[in-house]
Amino acid sequence: MPKTIKKFPKGFLWGAAISAYQTEGGIENSDWSEKFPAGKACDYYNRYEEYFDLAKELNHNVHRFSLEWPRIQPSEGKFDRQAIKHYRKVLLALKKRNIKSMVTIWHYTLPLWLAAKGGWSNSKSPEYFENYARFVAEELDDSVDFWTTLNEPAIYITLAYVKDRFPPQKKNSLLVPLVFLNFARAHKKTYKAIHEFNNKAKVGIAENYSYIDSYDKKSFLNNKMVSAWNFLNNHLFLNLTKNYHDYLGVNYYFHDRMKIAPFSFPPLVTKNENKEVSDMGWEIFPEGIYYVLMDLKKYGLPIYITENGIADEGDKRRAKFITDHLKWTHKAIGEGADVRGYLHWSLFDNFEWDSGFAKRFGLIEIDYQNGLEAKIRPSAREYAKICRENGFGF
Ligand code: FCB
Repeated sequence: MPKTIKKFPKGFLWGAAISAYQTEGGIENSDWSEKFPAGKACDYYNRYEEYFDLAKELNHNVHRFSLEWPRIQPSEGKFDRQAIKHYRKVLLALKKRNIKSMVTIWHYTLPLWLAAKGGWSNSKSPEYFENYARFVAEELDDSVDFWTTLNEPAIYITLAYVKDRFPPQKKNSLLVPLVFLNFARAHKKTYKAIHEFNNKAKVGIAENYSYIDSYDKKSFLNNKMVSAWNFLNNHLFLNLTKNYHDYLGVNYYFHDRMKIAPFSFPPLVTKNENKEVSDMGWEIFPEGIYYVLMDLKKYGLPIYITENGIADEGDKRRAKFITDHLKWTHKAIGEGADVRGYLHWSLFDNFEWDSGFAKRFGLIEIDYQNGLEAKIRPSAREYAKICRENGFGF
C-alpha cells in the first residue's frame, strides 16, 4: 500500500551544514594548522559556487557555514577586509540561488595571537570574541538570515580541556568552569551586540544535545544521577544564557545510556547497546532526537536541527539514518516541539578534525585523489526528494 506523505510545517528549512576549517583549505594561521593541517581540504574557499549549485540541485533551501576567525582577524589589531569581502561574495552566491544562510561565528578554531594568550581560558576572551563578532556582524548582517554565535562549546571543552584531543590539548579539569563561563559571557555579549543594530536578527547557538538515558530505570539513584547529568550537559548553558536566544540550534549525534560507576569521576559511565554503529563507532539511535526535542520544548523557542549526520563511507546506511531521524522529529513536532528546519551534517565529505579526511559524512562524496571531484551520493538524492516534497511517506 502506498504510504501517505507526511508533511513538515510550512516554510520548513531543508539543507546541510559545513564549517570553514573543515572545508575551505589554505588556512595556515589557526591554532589547528600546525598539528592538524587540513591542506587544501575541499577547496570550498574557491569552489563555493560549485558546491552551492549542487546544494540547489538537491533542493536545499538553507546552508550553514562558518566564518574563519584567523582569516578575518589575523593579528590582534587587524581585521582583514579581503576576508570580509570573500564572505560577502559567499553570502551573495547563496542569495542568488535563493538559499538561506546560517552563519556560525566560531566553529572551533582560534587565531594564533589569541591561542598564545590562552584562548578561551583567557578571562578577556569574551571581549575578544565580542569585538570580532561585532565587526563581522556590522559588515555582513544585511545578508545573513541566522547567526549562530558558537558551535558546541561543551564538546570543545571536553575535547580540549578534559581530554587532550583538540587544541590547546590542555588536560586540566580546573579550567573547565572558567572556559564554560567565558563561553556563556561571549554568547550573551554577542547576542546583545548584534541586536543593538538589528533588533530583528535571529541569533542562537548550536549545541550538541545528547539523549541521556538511565541504564537501570528501576534504580532511583541511577535515575537521579542521570537527571543531574542531563541538566549539566543539556541545560546549564541555556540557563546561564536565558533570554539570549532567538532559536535553539540542535546538533544531535549521541545517546548516552548511563550506568553508576562509583569509582570513576563523574561516577557514571556510558553503557550503550551499540546494536548499530557508524564508521565513527557512534551508536545509531534515531529515537534519541525525539527525546532531546521534547526535553527542549519547554524553552518555547523555535528549534533548528543544525547538525545530524553519519560517517558512512559506503553510503549504505545514510538514507535510512535520515528518514529514521526525520520520523522521530516529525513525531516531536506533532507533540508540540517547534522544529523549523533540518540541516544535515554534512553537505560534502570534509576534514573531520583529529580524525582527518578518512571519515565520510558527506551527502556528496569528495574524491581527494582525483582533483576533489564531487559526486552526489544516492542518499543525497533520497534526501533531495524529501526536501522537495517537504515530507515523505511513512
Ligand atoms: C560535530 C561538529 C562538526 C563535525 C560533526 C561530525 O560535533 O560540530 O564540526 O565534526 O560533529
